[in-house]
Amino acid sequence: MIDVLLGLQWGDEGKGKIVDFLARKYDIIARFQGGPNAGHTLYVNGNKVVLHTIPSGVFQEGCLNLIGNGVVIDPVTLKAEVQKIEGLCPDLKQRLFVSQRAHLILPTHRALDAASEAAKGAEKIGSTLKGIGPAYMDKTGRNGLRVGDVLSPSFKEKYDKLTQKHLQMLRQYDHIIDWQQWEQPFFDAIEALRTLQIINAEYWLDEQLKAGKKVLAEGAQGSMLDIDFGTYPFVTSSNTIAAGVCNGLGVSPSRVGEVYGITKAYCTRVGGGPFPTELEDETGEALRKAGAEFGATTGRPRRCGWIDLVALRYAVMLSGVTQLIVTKADVMDEFDPVKVATAYRVDGKETREFPYDICDQQIEPVYETFEGWDRPIAECHNAEDLPQKFRDYCKFVEDYLQTRIAYISNGTGRDQLIEIS
Ligand code: GDP
Ligand code: IMO
Ligand code: MG
Repeated sequence: MIDVLLGLQWGDEGKGKIVDFLARKYDIIARFQGGPNAGHTLYVNGNKVVLHTIPSGVFQEGCLNLIGNGVVIDPVTLKAEVQKIEGLCPDLKQRLFVSQRAHLILPTHRALDAASEAAKGAEKIGSTLKGIGPAYMDKTGRNGLRVGDVLSPSFKEKYDKLTQKHLQMLRQYDHIIDWQQWEQPFFDAIEALRTLQIINAEYWLDEQLKAGKKVLAEGAQGSMLDIDFGTYPFVTSSNTIAAGVCNGLGVSPSRVGEVYGITKAYCTRVGGGPFPTELEDETGEALRKAGAEFGATTGRPRRCGWIDLVALRYAVMLSGVTQLIVTKADVMDEFDPVKVATAYRVDGKETREFPYDICDQQIEPVYETFEGWDRPIAECHNAEDLPQKFRDYCKFVEDYLQTRIAYISNGTGRDQLIEIS
């Protein structure tokens, strides 16, 4: 069976930390979508590590890690990541596998991302500028280069052809980018990519599953950034929901088992786009400070607000989430009261459905208010320690989402996680 772990909000829910913990129960961790726009933070023996392309199972001894066909890879970022963490896990290259079918991010994809964002002006998406959108456009436009191509003698020819096409596109923008400076590092990184285990991953996974191996698919971004169901056009360019696992790894839906959905005890978003429960006041500022909410990839301050059960219920429905994981519960220790959005008021009418045209609507969230708790969750070690008022809050969330909470995370460390039986 293949289990799935996804972010249910706008990304940065703490997926890296949770996968690093859960990896002890799995043989393989596989990324199925996204690319170096992701920043998954984990702590290894007290050292902070941020992973962008490599799955978060690398620090679990013996665990194999697959970068699936649905991922877009920037060889430069991948090379830097391999170099950075090889010191911490010397057998990394034996445990890391890359699908032949994963698409490549070229220097000109990054240039196109920057030019497109600059042209949008105030309406910009707030992209991480890693070339994600342009690389997926070339994939669906049937022009892309794939990892398997780097082993072909005609790779340079294919690269030149695609780059020429991009240069024509770049001429339409009056945004000058010195992308040529990125070319040599790109070709150096292609050399490094050739030394990795490039495989026919869907067959490999099938064999592993038939041999009874346990696989966990690690999502990147979050459900509300999904290309189809997120707050379009303020989204990323891949399917971040559970459905993305099947086409991002080449596995059948019948093989999918548990679907873990991660949510913070509050909510954040980085970049542009609607965020109904955003707090642009001192409470929002206090959440940013208490939760150290600055982007792991770009360092940008994250927008902060209360947890949004309307959006969460939508995300749970889309992915068939079977178990919830609530992270950063400790951050809420300082807040009293704690609010939870249970409906949206749109044009004077209350709804529990996530609107299609959310970008054009004025949304007023309807809140349920909870008293803060008197004992810090940060100091709890098991479910019995948790303060009653926090348990009431959890029970409310579980009832609303009709899904059980399996874990509460109360700190950045791998073991700062409380299992709820
Ligand atoms: P990801 O993209 O979903 O992997 O999340 P990020 O790594 O971008 O952001 C999550 C941040 O919260 C990281 O800095 C984590 O170290 C931190 N974090 C994760 N879980 C917890 C938690 O339970 N409590 C606190 N205080 N921090 C956490
Ligand atoms: P992880 O995996 C938070 C956001 C960007 C921007 C939008 C589109 O760490 O949770 P893109 O670079 O994909 O063109 O950006 O999506 N975004 C993320 N926000 N966490 C992420 O990844 C994100 N990846 C992309 O900020 O608003
Ligand atoms: Mg992140």
